[in-house]
Amino acid sequence: MKNFTSIEDVPNPKGLIQDVINLIDQSNHSTIGKEKTLGMVFFNPSLRTRLSTQKAAQNLGMEVIVLNIDKDAWNVEFEDGTTMDGDSQEHIRDAVKVISSYCDLLAVRTFASLTNRQQDYEERELQNFLKHSSVPVISMESATLHPLQSLTDMATIVHTNIPKPKVVLSWAPHPKPLPQAVANSFLEWVTELQAEVVVAHPKGYELSEKFAAGYKVTHNQQEAFKNADIIYAKNWSSYSDYGARPAVEENWTITSELMQKTNQAQFMHCLPIRRNVVATDAVIDDSLVYQQAKNREYAAQAVIKNLLEVL
Ligand code: CP
Repeated sequence: MKNFTSIEDVPNPKGLIQDVINLIDQSNHSTIGKEKTLGMVFFNPSLRTRLSTQKAAQNLGMEVIVLNIDKDAWNVEFEDGTTMDGDSQEHIRDAVKVISSYCDLLAVRTFASLTNRQQDYEERELQNFLKHSSVPVISMESATLHPLQSLTDMATIVHTNIPKPKVVLSWAPHPKPLPQAVANSFLEWVTELQAEVVVAHPKGYELSEKFAAGYKVTHNQQEAFKNADIIYAKNWSSYSDYGARPAVEENWTITSELMQKTNQAQFMHCLPIRRNVVATDAVIDDSLVYQQAKNREYAAQAVIKNLLEVL
């Protein structure tokens, strides 16, 4: 594996999921990363990704340097060929070349703008890292994908030992427009599982066909929940009316009553979660969300070890 920015970078996704499961069952540390440095660059906030990736690198003996580039560095210019006589002081190509010269692996978080679909779905920011970094790149969530989260989620589902589970990816409400990255990425990875997958969302929230094609999609949340074994909740904004939040008449908040329609399903969410908006307290408090969050450490550790092995 040369980079980790989507499932397409992973030669053996099932093997990588198994590596994570092995760490869930028996965490272990090694010194493979001794005298190596992980650089972590954040354009956006993070709790889990930041701490779990840092912990994972330390488990492997690495040093970690962190830059909150949106707050602590110069304003970054992304346009090529532009005359930089405005607010931007540093071009992304210069920033990435310099940062990667201090690291052996470079991780980056860069969210969708939700204002320019073409630019977001071309992954302009991530592509700049891939183009200009002299070391392997790890996505800590890009405009359209969140592969560390999805790898975690797949390992967490397999670890439930439910044979051929019915997995429902359910849209849920949120007061702000959110990217489609977690949902897109989930659909990219869930093909690796022996599972029946249903996507439930209100009209107007169709995901890109690149990710949704081939999956059963319903606008009836109650119907989707019947006999489900895993409920994976996530909000996302509109793809077609990019970044918009079309009005939804029904209540899509996940409640205990709704969960009772399932086959005693396990509730999952990547966190952070808006309590009593996305799901009720009772649903969240009786769920896999903390195990998921802990498993982020193991997923990051499996990815970093894999990348270090081929340096
Ligand atoms: N799930 C997740 O990526 O959490 P953070 O945004 O806190 O990193």
